[in-house]
Amino acid sequence: MKCRLADVDLAYDIAGASHNPTLLLVHGFPHDRSTWAPQMRALSASYQCVTVDLRGFGESSAAPPYSMDQYADDMAALLDAIGVRRAVVAGLSMGGYIAFALWRRHADRVHGFVLADTRAGADTEAAIERRRQSIAQLHTAGVEAAAASLIANQLGATTRERHPELEPMLLATVRRASEDGLAGALDAMIARPDSTDTMATISVPTLILVGDEDTISPPAEAQRIRAMVAGSRMDVIRGAGHVSNLERPAAFNAVVSEWAAAVFDPAQAH
Ligand code: MLT
Repeated sequence: MKCRLADVDLAYDIAGASHNPTLLLVHGFPHDRSTWAPQMRALSASYQCVTVDLRGFGESSAAPPYSMDQYADDMAALLDAIGVRRAVVAGLSMGGYIAFALWRRHADRVHGFVLADTRAGADTEAAIERRRQSIAQLHTAGVEAAAASLIANQLGATTRERHPELEPMLLATVRRASEDGLAGALDAMIARPDSTDTMATISVPTLILVGDEDTISPPAEAQRIRAMVAGSRMDVIRGAGHVSNLERPAAFNAVVSEWAAAVFDPAQAH
């Protein structure tokens, strides 16, 4: 389905009954909504699951500006378009950075958070330098040439050994993105603010997940968020790297289901 906003068309999918609480699943970089397929399949029995391609990714159109605030505003506009007042927002990695911006700008739309394989801090100088090199490569050599390096180290060692099919799947998501969308997201991540101070303001139920083999946003980063978000819960997904929802979907879904059943009253989720 497509949702037309003022300056962009967002591609999205909805699965599950509309009377159930909504779970908005926000993908990481450089992915698209297809990476949430295992959650759509399993969690739509209890939730209205919504996946969306961020501007510049997947089947959404590419249109500047690119920033965490703009992506967050897009998520709020999508919720408006589908008639959802509040959602549990699950964000993986860059999806988590967007979740923090959503909280700063549209806290009333958030019923809870699932923060997966993400970090509160801003980029280090080394990360900024790596992103600048990726932007230069995208502009000089194109998406195809940059694709492999953009997903380097995302899958954990266990996944690379046991599920070799996931690497081509992630590469396919990069190829569906536009050069502008990828470069714009890299710029947006460079420019994103440090969200550390935001953590203490989060007052909705929050689940923090991280793969034990995540070397990009390692468990210590998840632990840092856990320590700052009052009442939050953290679980480690064994045998998963940076894309824990895709690498160990059954374990990921089981924790989300169990946590959500414990903390949400379905009658108050809208
Ligand atoms: C992601 O998965 O969204 C990226 O690894 C985030 C990042 O590069 O900081």
